Amino acid sequence: MPLFPALSCPTVQLSNALEIPILGLGTSHNGGYSHDAVVYALTECGIRHLDTAKRYGCEEKLGEAIKESRLLRSDLWLTNKLWPGDYGYKAAKKACLDSCTAMGVEYFDLYLMHWPESLKVGSFNREIRAETWRALEDLYKEGVCHAIGVSNFLVRHLEQLKEDCNVVPHVNQVEYHPFQQPHRLMEYCRKDGIVFEGYSPLAKGQVLSDPVVQQIAKKHRRTAAQICICWSIQNGVVTIPKSIKKNRIQENCQVFGLQLDEEDMVALGNLHDGRHVTWDPTNVE
Ligand SMILES: NC(=O)c1ccc[n+]([C@@H]2O[C@H](COP(=O)([O-])OP(=O)(O)OC[C@H]3O[C@@H](n4cnc5c(N)ncnc54)[C@H](OP(=O)(O)O)[C@@H]3O)[C@@H](O)[C@H]2O)c1
Repeated sequence: MPLFPALSCPTVQLSNALEIPILGLGTSHNGGYSHDAVVYALTECGIRHLDTAKRYGCEEKLGEAIKESRLLRSDLWLTNKLWPGDYGYKAAKKACLDSCTAMGVEYFDLYLMHWPESLKVGSFNREIRAETWRALEDLYKEGVCHAIGVSNFLVRHLEQLKEDCNVVPHVNQVEYHPFQQPHRLMEYCRKDGIVFEGYSPLAKGQVLSDPVVQQIAKKHRRTAAQICICWSIQNGVVTIPKSIKKNRIQENCQVFGLQLDEEDMVALGNLHDGRHVTWDPTNVE
């Protein structure tokens, strides 16, 4: 088993020339949090990209794990997200600075608006998104966020933001796995220079028992999870599988020597059935 498998992880360039590692470790409030597993990912697997959100409630704990890893801040890619309860110019700026304090860092590599809908009664989504985005633009100019982006935004949300604001998001983080492949959105992002990042790459585990995935796993003598992660990476999609188990984190990093062939890619591409395992933003105006 290679040491630090994720150290050979390629990067994807953002429109501002920053390089985001194509594989990161997800964290979540669903299914718990393991301090030891995060430290293990950083110190034994070579993971350098962590994805979190204020919503997940583990910012302080992650900050402790980062400290314990003794890695340099500059060697890490940290993504955090702004929850809609903190939308609006002033609230957004405060929430970002509070999140930095909670994690014990001075900046985020990437800061995302978590969801396109406002939670503020009586406010229009489009207006509140634009006002919030202006706060992120200022945080970007001030260096508190080295890149800024959105999450769960559809084409119309991105188009409105482009009309209303100045900085085009660097990243759009969206649900992406073999059952959920939003091709039109991906193409829109590609044309606009927005890096497409995929979350829930294992469909929260649902895709692992799919017979096509299992058959490809058997053919390559790999696990179903490795096949799905490799498929994302071969499609150029930044991916952030989540696990709180050390053996699975190790497994999910052992993907860089694996090459799926054309036939595998087509078979996995054909698994799209449009299902969402997390959230569906279709009805958000
Ligand atoms: N922007 C957003 O709105 C949004 C929404 C959802 C998720 N995310 C981000 O994306 C990350 C990943 O998404 P997700 O947690 O929804 O789904 P996921 O990564 O597709 O699946 C996670 C589930 O798969 C299990 N798992 C992980 N590796 C495995 C392996 N090798 N074999 C078998 N099972 C395995 C995990 O269990 P164990 O932990 O018990 O191993 C967990 O139950 C999150 O942590 C979060 O950072 C973002």
